[in-house]
Order: sequence, then C-alpha cells, then structure tokens
Amino acid sequence: MRTYSLALLPLAGCVFAGLFGDGPVYTVLPDQSQIEEAVEAAVNIRDVPNNVDYRCGPKIGKCPIDTCCSAAGFCGTSKAHCRSPDCKIDYGHCDAYKSPYGPPTKDIVRPHIGQIPYGPKEIRSCAIPGTIALTFDDGPTRYTGDLLDLLDKYDAKATFFITGINNGKGQIDDFSLPWASLIERMQSSGHQIASHTWSHEDLSKITPSQRRDQLEKNEAALRNIIGSFPTYMRPPYSSCAPDTDCGVDVGKLGYHIVMYDIDTDDYKNDSPELIQRSKDIFDHAVYAGDPHTKSWLVIAHDAHEQTVHNLTEHMLKTMKRLGYHGITVGDCLRDPRPLWYRKDTRMPTHKKKPKKTASADPNKPISFDGSCGSNYTCMGSTFGYCCGSTSSCGNTTTYCGTGCQKDAGYCAVEAPSNGDAWDPKVHTKGKKSEADGSSRTIGTAAVISLFLALIVATWIG
Ligand SMILES: *[C@@H]1O[C@H](CO)[C@@H](O)[C@H](O)[C@H]1NC(C)=O
Ligand SMILES: *[C@@H]1O[C@H](CO)[C@@H](O)[C@H](O)[C@H]1NC(C)=O
Ligand SMILES: *[C@@H]1O[C@H](CO)[C@@H](O)[C@H](O)[C@H]1NC(C)=O
Ligand SMILES: [Zn+2]
Repeated sequence: MRTYSLALLPLAGCVFAGLFGDGPVYTVLPDQSQIEEAVEAAVNIRDVPNNVDYRCGPKIGKCPIDTCCSAAGFCGTSKAHCRSPDCKIDYGHCDAYKSPYGPPTKDIVRPHIGQIPYGPKEIRSCAIPGTIALTFDDGPTRYTGDLLDLLDKYDAKATFFITGINNGKGQIDDFSLPWASLIERMQSSGHQIASHTWSHEDLSKITPSQRRDQLEKNEAALRNIIGSFPTYMRPPYSSCAPDTDCGVDVGKLGYHIVMYDIDTDDYKNDSPELIQRSKDIFDHAVYAGDPHTKSWLVIAHDAHEQTVHNLTEHMLKTMKRLGYHGITVGDCLRDPRPLWYRKDTRMPTHKKKPKKTASADPNKPISFDGSCGSNYTCMGSTFGYCCGSTSSCGNTTTYCGTGCQKDAGYCAVEAPSNGDAWDPKVHTKGKKSEADGSSRTIGTAAVISLFLALIVATWIG
C-alpha cells in the first residue's frame, strides 16, 4: 500500500485538494502489483530519451500535445507513459482520453426503478442470509479466464466491476483483444457485469464532467459488447467522497453504488508468502457468523495472480464448507435481473439473433394526465417514464417491468439470456431433484444388471 501525505496530494492533479483541509493521511489504494510497478518504472526510465525529454505535473506543467504525462512525471508516448490510471490526465494525453466506438450514451434516460437505493447512498451488504457475493474489480485481465473456470467448477456466481481501459490493456470494446469475449462469457455464465469506470480515475478528485465521462465511456464500451450497460458501479479506490458531489452525480447517472463488508486486501498481498493474510481476513469474518442469518459482500481484484490462482479457490472452499451460496450482488439484494442493466435501443445487438426492440416514438405527444399507450408516450412525462400494462405512466417496477409498453415509454431491459437468477427455493429444490435423479439412475442400473444377469444365467444354463 502506498500512503501519500497531504503534501503530495497535488501530485494527483487534485482539483479538490483544498477540501481535504488539514485532515490526516489520505490513502490511495493501488490496483496493480508491485512487480508491475517496478517494470513500469524501468520502462519509464528507458523510454524517456526515446520520447520527449520533458518533465510534467503540478508546478511544472503540461506535456507537448499528444504526449502523455507518466506517473513519474515524464512526457512520452509509450504504453508506460500513457497507461491509465497512473498517467496524469490533467497534464497530458492519456489512455483515459480514448473513446469507445459507436454513439455516446448521454441521451439515454435513467429512471430510478426498483427498491434498491441509487447514489449517493452506498450499499455495503447483502440481504439474503446464507449467501456471499464475491466481487472482482479492475478486470478483465489475463487472469480472468482462469477465474471464470474456477467459478464454474464451484457453481458460484460473482459480480465483475469492469474497467474499460486501465493498466495499458487497451479498450475492452476492441474486438481484436481478448477482453470482449471474456465479458460475453461472464454474461452467458450468469455472472453480473457492473461498472468500475472507463480508466479508473479517483472520482473524488476529478471534475463533475470528468466523472460523467468516466461512467458514460464505460457504458458505451459495455453496450458495444453486451448490448446494454450496468446500473451497478463501484468507484475506483472505493472513493466517492461525501464532501464532493460524486455520489449525487453517480446517482443522477442512474447507478447503485456498491461497497463491501469484507475487504480481502488482496492487492496488498499478491505473493505466495502474503496471500495467507487475505485468506485469514476472509475466514475470520465468515467463520464468526452463522450462515443461517449472515450474508457477506466481498471485494477482491481479478487483476492479481494470487487472487485468481490461490485466494478465490480458498474462499469458494470455505463457503462450501460453511454452506454459503456464491451469488451476484443483484441477486443478493433481491433486485430483479432486468433492473441490473439499461439497454441502448438505438444500437443493433452486436451479434446474431436480431431482436425486435421497438423504441418510444419520438413524435408521440407526451402524456399530460398520466395515461399512455397508442396515443401518448410517458417519455418526458412528469408522471414517470414507463408506460405500464394499465396504460398509465410511472417509474416503479410495476410500470417499467412486466407488461411495460415499449412503444410508449422507457422499459427495463428484458433479462439477458444468462442463466437463471438465483432463487433460494428453486435452488434447494434443484439440489433435491439432482439427488433424486441419481438415486433413480442407480435404481435403473440395478434392475438392468439384474435382468442381464438373468439372461446370462439362462443362456449358460
Ligand atoms: C422518473 O425518473 C426520472 C429519471 O430518473 C426523473 O427525472 C423523474 O422525476 C421521475 N418521475 C417520477 C414521477 O418519479
Ligand atoms: C497459496 O497460498 C499459500 C499460503 O496460503 C502458499 O503457501 C502457497 O504457496 C500458495 N500457492 C501458490 C501456487 O502460489
Ligand atoms: C387515440 O386517438 C385516436 C384518434 O384520435 C382515437 O380514435 C383513439 O380512440 C385514441 N385511443 C385511445 C386509447 O385513447
Ligand atoms: Zn479498482
């Protein structure tokens, strides 16, 4: 962990530096391993002479046009200079300034549907006893495929807080890279996809328009991959300070802000010698509670080798031993699956099965009395944006969910085809019938072998 004293705060180009006053030490949680940092530092030193030999940063100034200001304060154009989030966005170009393909999402309406609070409220725990929501931030990375295999092996679902263009990985909607297919796999395996912003900047330290940019760019990129974008997000560094407008801004963009109640500290312990500490943190918390009454919301990062190749299987084994089910954040909050995403109806779905997605007719007059249907749309109405089955406007699930009239307002996304939502009743029933199934198989096998034995006996006789 790196701890910066206040004197170093302006290094981050912090527009709100003054707001922190004379508080104590402010902590920045790094996301990439120390090894990668060391490599980067080496590359930086080597790259500088080959690039523009300028210093940059607070009190020094900006880099020449189109060059990036590296973490160490040098201008250059190499991957190491430009990789976000280390690259200083206020002092030069950075990966952060790249854009996803296709139209921006800024015009898509974001009604606050459902029972789960939106920002600035922060969600820190799950609601269904006996469940654990494992969450993984900062991916996809080269380890994510292994993580998906592992989750499959234990029949567990997880939530992925995805970052669009961090750590020099390129943008997730560049289909020549492996990231988009990993995200599609998350979707088809029944995991939840959530946002961890475009380039992992600290949302408490950037301007409101930069915040918006950070969320909207990630929306467009995810839309390019799965056809819709999430309503759940986690701020990078878990930082969305109440003395800024961060939480309010994020809420206005239609997001639930998800924190956690177990922090594995995995990013501090990414070595075979240290990872036991993260296992101990997890065990200490979950062994102390009763699975019949407790649930947990756990943070880890699939950007780290030990998290994927060591810690996660330990957590899954512990969960199995204690009888906890691994489910998504949306499921553990009992939020219906269609409310986890918003669809961009202007875009054809990226691949195959073209679905009829009628969108609200922009020429239809806006409902003035709350009624809607063939003649009036709820889009823009003061009664709510969704036209329900009773032909009246509202913002709640009653209006935006089942029976919602798509040609007369906004409707929640139809559930993407990614397996079944977790349901405690169905779950135990499923288990039982599985057992029934196997005993039936054994029974049938016994009858058949007895029958065969009889035939053989008759034949020998
Ligand atoms: C419905 O949601 C929209 C978007 O969040 C909001 O602007 C509007 O005020 C809401 N209307 C009602 C009646 O809640
Ligand atoms: C996994 O973690 C344990 C400590 O909990 C360590 O002894 C072991 O070497 C690690 N395994 C690998 C493959 O890194
Ligand atoms: C819609 O408008 C048409 C033409 O004015 C009218 O005949 C029809 O009854 C209206 N439909 C509803 C549901 O109000
Ligand atoms: Zn992160």
